[in-house]
Amino acid sequence: MQKDVLVPNITPSPKQELFLTSSADETFYGGAAGGGKSAALCAEAITASIEDEAHRTYIFRKTLKELNQSEVPELLKQLDVFRDNVKYNSQQSLFIFPNKSIIQLAYLDNEADKYRYQSAEIHTLLFDELTHFTQDQYEYLKTRVRSDKKRLMRIMSASNPGNIGHGWVKSYFIDGHRPMEVFKEESSGITKMYIPATIEDHPNPDFRASYRKQLEALSDDKLKKALLYGDWDIFAGQVFNEWRRHKHVFSRLPVHLEDCTLYCGLDWGYNDPTAVYWVAVSPDQHFYVYRELYANNKRPEEWAYELAIYLKHEKVKFLAMPHDTYSNLGGTRPIVDQFREVFAKLGIQVNIIKSAPGTHVAKVNRQALMHHMLGDMPDGRARLSVHESCLNLIRTLPMLPYSDTNVEEIESRGVEDHAYDALSYICYAITGGYNQTKIVNLLQPEGNVPKGLVISEDMQTKVFNLDDIVLQAGKNNNKDWRYT
Ligand SMILES: Nc1ncnc2c1ncn2[C@@H]1O[C@H](COP(=O)(O)OP(=O)(O)OP(=O)(O)O)[C@@H](O)[C@H]1O
Ligand SMILES: [Mg+2]
Repeated sequence: MQKDVLVPNITPSPKQELFLTSSADETFYGGAAGGGKSAALCAEAITASIEDEAHRTYIFRKTLKELNQSEVPELLKQLDVFRDNVKYNSQQSLFIFPNKSIIQLAYLDNEADKYRYQSAEIHTLLFDELTHFTQDQYEYLKTRVRSDKKRLMRIMSASNPGNIGHGWVKSYFIDGHRPMEVFKEESSGITKMYIPATIEDHPNPDFRASYRKQLEALSDDKLKKALLYGDWDIFAGQVFNEWRRHKHVFSRLPVHLEDCTLYCGLDWGYNDPTAVYWVAVSPDQHFYVYRELYANNKRPEEWAYELAIYLKHEKVKFLAMPHDTYSNLGGTRPIVDQFREVFAKLGIQVNIIKSAPGTHVAKVNRQALMHHMLGDMPDGRARLSVHESCLNLIRTLPMLPYSDTNVEEIESRGVEDHAYDALSYICYAITGGYNQTKIVNLLQPEGNVPKGLVISEDMQTKVFNLDDIVLQAGKNNNKDWRYT
C-alpha cells in the first residue's frame, strides 16, 4: 500500500520522502549523521497518527534521556501547528491526538525492559539508532505489531553505523541488496528497503556545511567515516578491524591434519549458544580453525556425546572448558563433570583443561592475543585463519564492538561473543599456558597489531614473544596426540 506524505511543519527532502512513502514492511534509513533521519521518523509518527484513528505508534530508543534530547523536541517542533490539539504528557512520554491516536516514546535500556511492552498493541513501530538494539529485541517488538482492524502497519528504523547491532542491521537490510529498492526476503516473505543516509540529504545548505565541518574535525578516523560518509564496512568501536575475509578465511586446509597439533575448546551456553572450535597448529605455526559446532538448547550430556564422535577419532592435545563449567552453582553438578562422565562411559581419553578466568585482566589479555593471532606471520600470511564452514565465527568476530563503559574490553551485553570467547580461550590455552603466564595488554585502541608483554609468576615483565611460546608448545608434541 502506497502512503501519501502529509507532514506538518516540515518539507521532506527527497530521501525523507522516499522513506515516508516506502511500501516495504520494514524500512531502514541508515548511514551518515545529520541528514534528517530522526526527523523522518518523527514525521512518520505524526502522519500515521493523523491519517488513522486510534493509531498506536511507538518510537523506541535505547534510553529515555536520548528520547528527551532528540525525539521530544523534534516532535514538538513538527507538531507546532497542532499545539492546541495534541497533548503531550511528559510523565508518560506520550503524545495524544484528538482522534485518539497516540505516539508512545519507549526505551529498552536493558534486555528485560522489552517485557514492559509484552501486552502492547503497536501499529507503527519505529526505532531510532537501531544499531543500539540487539536483533532479539527488534524481533521481539515486531511481534507486538498487530491490530484487529485493517490498517497500515509498518516498521521503520534509522541509524548511524556502529555499536552492538551494527552486524545484524547490516546483514538484515544492507548486504547483498540494492539500496532504495524494495526487496523480498524469500524465507519470510517480508519486504524490506534500505535507504542510505548522507549529510547531503539535508535540505538546508548552511546546515550541511556547518555539520560537515564539525564531522571533518573528528580525530577518530573510523567514527569520521561512519558519521560523515555513512560507511557500513568500517565502524567506530569495531575491535578486530584487521579482519579481512580474503586473508582470514580459507576453503581448503593447506596442510594435512596429521602433521598438525590439534586442540578443541568451547564456550558454554544453554539459552545462548554453545560454541565449539577445533584448531590445528601446523609445524610452521599457523593456526587453522577447521571445525565449528554452534547451537543452543542442548544439555551437557548431549554435547559430550556429540564431541565424543570427533574426539574418538581425532586426538586433541586438550579440550578447553570455560571456568563457569567448573562451578556447581545452581545446585547441579558442574557441567565439566557431566562431560567427564560421558567420556569415561565411552572410553574417550581427553585432557580437559580450564580456560582463562573471566577477570578484566584475562579478558584484555585474550583480546590482545587475538589481535596478535589475526596479524601477519613473516611469510605475509595471517597467523590464524578460519575455514569457511565456521559461519558463526566469521559472522560475529569482525562485528564485536568495544564496551561503552570500559573501552579496553569487548562489549558483553547483548553481543554475540560466544564464538570469539571459545576461540580465544583455546588460543590463550595453547600459547599462554593457563595459570602460568599472563599476557598483559598493550592494546592500541586504533587496532595496530599490539606487541605483548608476559608477566611471569614472579611478576617479572618480559617481552611477549608468541613465536617462542608456540614453538615450545610444538616441541612438546607427542605422536600420541596426533591424528590417527
Ligand atoms: N526536511 C527538513 N527540513 C527542515 N529541517 C529538517 C529537515 N529534516 C531534518 N531537519 C532538521 O535538521 C536537523 C538534523 O536532523 P535529524 O536530527 O533528523 O538528523 P539525523 O540524521 O537524525 O542526525 P543524527 O545522525 O545526528 O541523529 C534537526 O534539527 C531537524 O529538525
Ligand atoms: Mg538522529
